[in-house]
Amino acid sequence: MKCFKNFSQILTLEKASQKDGRLLTPDDLSVLNKASIVFDEDKIHWVGLANELPKQFHHIPSHDCEGYVLTPEIVDSHTHLVFGGDRSFEYSMRLNGADYQEIANAGGGILSTMENTITTDEEELFQTGIERIERIASYGVGSIEIKSGYGLTVESERKISHVIDRLKKHFSGKIQIFNTYLAAHAVPKTYDNSHEYMQKVVYPLLEELAEQNIIDFIDIFHEEGYFNYQDSEELFKVATKLGIKIKIHADEFNDNKGALLASRYNAVSADHLLCTGEDGIDALANSQTVATLLPGTAYFLGKPLAEAQKFLKAGCKVALASDYNPGSCHCDNILLIASLCAKNFNLNMAQLWSALCLNSAHALGLYDQGALIAGNKPRFSFFKCSSIDQITYSWGRNFAISENQLIQETHQT
Ligand code: NIG
Ligand code: FE
Repeated sequence: MKCFKNFSQILTLEKASQKDGRLLTPDDLSVLNKASIVFDEDKIHWVGLANELPKQFHHIPSHDCEGYVLTPEIVDSHTHLVFGGDRSFEYSMRLNGADYQEIANAGGGILSTMENTITTDEEELFQTGIERIERIASYGVGSIEIKSGYGLTVESERKISHVIDRLKKHFSGKIQIFNTYLAAHAVPKTYDNSHEYMQKVVYPLLEELAEQNIIDFIDIFHEEGYFNYQDSEELFKVATKLGIKIKIHADEFNDNKGALLASRYNAVSADHLLCTGEDGIDALANSQTVATLLPGTAYFLGKPLAEAQKFLKAGCKVALASDYNPGSCHCDNILLIASLCAKNFNLNMAQLWSALCLNSAHALGLYDQGALIAGNKPRFSFFKCSSIDQITYSWGRNFAISENQLIQETHQT
């Protein structure tokens, strides 16, 4: 059992969690000043004001955390961080006037990262994966979802899924890694259509990986020119049979009814949602499917942001994630993205922090974390500053520290 006492602030998100992360007002933030927490490896035992610490916990050795802030763990529920090469040339092309589709037509886009990922060996992908995860963790992020999807052949997608599995084991006990199978990310030019590619690559490998029990979620890029409604629905049926939870890249460039489909199949999340219509928004609001917005991507592509207020007002659970990838959002810092978009989305503080910690945890099916309440998993982020306000106010600045650092810097009493 451990006791960290006297934090300048603890953000609990207790009220937000009682409201299932929906229709949040500023009062739902739940911040305690001068507060303490008691926990063991499995769960939180007590959270409250420092001067109300129950007697039975007085004997536990504690650390004095004045000058630090504790929040529920920040979760990045959408990344594509296993890839070879980079696409900096595309970024320059884009600044010089080319759009996403023109870049893809010119041999750029997902298929160009595919070439680079196929020719990068497993060990190198694993090592760069470690570096990327450590950098993300340094911002205070403790759970990270990683998608395959830059292999697009049976051999290469297998290689990526195995790399993600190795990363998961490498960080086990510290950072939680989730393995998402996104072989349905683009159709290589050697196939006539998406259906043929699904049959020859996506399903056979999915069956193999499901047997090895290494896949946490399936995902599909449901978009014109990539995968259509039938492809997505069929994949969701197969995943449901295999007992694998569903995620989807939905309605990014067009209203493809991806959000609607996601809620119908109980997806844990529908992501992007730049073009989702009223019907999709209503369907998400009436489901457990989290609406995950990826504003870094819209910023990077120079597009209008998703209409966050429509989702929030309808009663959706809204999460934020980075979408870190080599093409459409080469930014791995979800806190920086959150600082940038908070006012443009008109998020109040409860919506902002729920989107980072609570709803993002739900987007990975983690219903026992994301709020600091007794019984929940002891998953935290620590910041060396004196208020929650400072964290996203100082955008691009990093206040996060690890639990070990906190223990070293504070004295035990
Ligand atoms: O989430 N939209 C599809 N996939 C990625 C982009 C991948 C890429 O351009 O490499 C995304 O934005
Ligand atoms: Fe993505």
